[in-house]
Amino acid sequence: MLNLLEVDQVSRRFALRGGRVLRAVDAVSLTVGAGESVGVVGESGSGKSTLSRMIVRLLDPTEGTIRFEGESIDEVPAKRFNTHRLRSAIQMVFQDATDSLDPRLRVADAIAEPLRALPDLRALSPAARRDRVQEVAAQVDLAAPLLDRYPHQLSGGQKARVGIARALVSRPRLLVLDEPTAALDVSVQATVLALLARLQRELGLAMLFVSHDLNVVRLITRRVVVMRAGRIVESGPVDQVFQNPAHEYTQALVAAIPAPPAARLATRENH
Ligand SMILES: Nc1ncnc2c1ncn2[C@@H]1O[C@H](COP(=O)(O)OP(=O)(O)OP(=O)(O)O)[C@@H](O)[C@H]1O
Ligand SMILES: [Mg+2]
Repeated sequence: MLNLLEVDQVSRRFALRGGRVLRAVDAVSLTVGAGESVGVVGESGSGKSTLSRMIVRLLDPTEGTIRFEGESIDEVPAKRFNTHRLRSAIQMVFQDATDSLDPRLRVADAIAEPLRALPDLRALSPAARRDRVQEVAAQVDLAAPLLDRYPHQLSGGQKARVGIARALVSRPRLLVLDEPTAALDVSVQATVLALLARLQRELGLAMLFVSHDLNVVRLITRRVVVMRAGRIVESGPVDQVFQNPAHEYTQALVAAIPAPPAARLATRENH
């Protein structure tokens, strides 16, 4: 499989008070193939979000290389990446759609916002923009009347769909999802996961899927990396890592999870 994303020995240090330095991410390497979906699991504070933010170029690495389609993107400062040609290709879905949606924007405008901002898409006509918003809303099962609403008029599951639609509107080739369903009730979570699995299949999207919940990762990805204290301690095919974890930290993570919601996922994908 052709590598879409190559993360090579990437680290991020944070200066803490008292002169201490935290290695939030420490020499992490991973790849994501075109159309492939890779999971990142680990306990709270293991560096999952810091890694995600570096990959989507919201945060600068202190060391290492990030390549997308063979092109090194770590040298472009995060604050300038918004106008980079590849911004539309690498998008992020955030944990809490309530936090990441502007309360003053109607759903249609929230979804269209990246189209107005991204350098390669700014030239779209208003009609083309509207068509694209409607198309992507349909892809995430958001009924057309919802496009006129404001975020506070939506359910948690609907807001999550808006967050996904916003990330998809620029036709990204890589989606980084940082705990995309963690803020949702379990039943709604299952429907959103089923939606993500379908989108991945239908659109051939590559995903880096971050979660502290191993069951969730197992439903969405084939390959997983396990992070602890900024480092990858184990990686491999998801079933192998789950059924036969090599590292005691992974064994503890696996032992701590309840039974998988897979049966539920298979039958309910609406709402
Ligand atoms: N801007 C920052 N300044 C200082 N320390 C930070 C900063 N951002 C993150 N950290 C620290 O880096 C470490 C990793 O944090 P990170 O948010 O990446 O973990 P995580 O795996 O996403 O955790 P969670 O599961 O709780 O979301 C934590 O110790 C965190 O406190
Ligand atoms: Mg996090």
